[in-house]
Amino acid sequence: RKSVNSMANLPFSESEYRGRQSRFLDKIPQDSLVLIPTNPNSIRSNDVQYPFRASSYMLYLCGWTDPESVLMAKHTGNDWIVSLFVQPNDTTAEIWEGRRIGIEGASARWPIDEAHSLAQMNEIVKAALTESNGVYLIQKLNDDIDQIVDEAMTSKSRQRNTYGMGPISLVDPSSILDEMRMCKSEAEIEVMQKSANLASMAHSLAMKNTQVGIGEWQIQAMIEGCFQSHGSQWSYPSIVGGGDNATILHYHSNSKAVNEGDLVLVDAGCEVDGYASDITRTWPVNGKFSDSQKEIYNLVLEAELAGIAACKVGVPWNASHKASMEVISKGLIELGILDCSFDEAMGDDLDGKTRQFFMHGTSHSLGLDVHDVGVTKPGGEGDGRLLEEGMVLTVEPGLYFASWREDIQVPERYSGIGIRIEDDVLITKDGPVVLTSNCPKKITEIEALVGSGL
Ligand code: GLY
Ligand code: MN
Ligand code: MN
Repeated sequence: RKSVNSMANLPFSESEYRGRQSRFLDKIPQDSLVLIPTNPNSIRSNDVQYPFRASSYMLYLCGWTDPESVLMAKHTGNDWIVSLFVQPNDTTAEIWEGRRIGIEGASARWPIDEAHSLAQMNEIVKAALTESNGVYLIQKLNDDIDQIVDEAMTSKSRQRNTYGMGPISLVDPSSILDEMRMCKSEAEIEVMQKSANLASMAHSLAMKNTQVGIGEWQIQAMIEGCFQSHGSQWSYPSIVGGGDNATILHYHSNSKAVNEGDLVLVDAGCEVDGYASDITRTWPVNGKFSDSQKEIYNLVLEAELAGIAACKVGVPWNASHKASMEVISKGLIELGILDCSFDEAMGDDLDGKTRQFFMHGTSHSLGLDVHDVGVTKPGGEGDGRLLEEGMVLTVEPGLYFASWREDIQVPERYSGIGIRIEDDVLITKDGPVVLTSNCPKKITEIEALVGSGL
């Protein structure tokens, strides 16, 4: 095996990647072949593709970021051999598209055992399949691989019929990897802290440079410019909604100017070495919350703090949501927005009166995917699995009083307000650690910051 010194400049050590591979492969029957393709390229317009982003499973297992590749693992009888099919060096292609790591580069400097050219994939995978009883494949990512496997399993002349060899079962390995990805290692947490720090910095920068009349797109540009100038990029398209636009949960057009007296809701996070951060802050463009805005802001903040405090080892996944819902339900009644009992406000969560104004969940897992993988509510019933050390989740309650909605009634003073506050929280045995704690969220901090950089 190669030494760590020869490794490419990857986010993690060779032993970190090798550890992930062996924990994964320990769960795979040794007579099976593992095939994990990266994401496909997608077309944006004629001759133009969307920027490529490798599949999170590929990043997780070996840190390989180039397109078109497929990871294969095969047991030799002694050990699992992990190989990558990659684009080979090709001067003409590299002149147009950029340099490739190539077969030798991949085999010398990536945490894998062998690299092969994609041109040989058909032949090598077919041969490997005839020696395997099962296939662990993530389907629908790579048509070539899907077809090779499909043929091996269904062709009339398949080896199985004549020689008693060849795959008879096809299994999706992603749930094994998803479970592994739920609890982050120390090295992953370090990277996630960097991602959280950069997103916090971007939000603070945008607050400093906000003034009345600013375009939503200008706030987006400051935030994403900050990501980019630090070698990063967004982990999901930024949401920047002024005034009523803040009440549209997935508002992406970011095309309106923000008026005097309005709040702006900014939900933006970045990706560092593949790991997402996810922050929402809401601030007044003129630097001063009005009394009615303050009432709602403080309620959402109290709910968020209660949600964070609930993030403890051993509590059910739903605990943060329940804590936030309780604070918000109580507050809505106190503010005269809901005229009902606490129990009616809470209801059975989805049918509670509070849901009119707080219509989304409070937490999702965060990692290589912004809505990260892993089962949180086994069987779909109850309050969900228990939180474990190393899990990272968001806490993000909000209240939305869209002025254009005809199905709700709110006091005039709250109409048009939309507020969400979102942080990224690491579960530890000593309690919740807010990875995004550098990002200001107290009213006094925000008021001091907004416009201070102009
Ligand atoms: N930015 C997506 C979310 O908050 O879940
Ligand atoms: Mn989120
Ligand atoms: Mn978000």
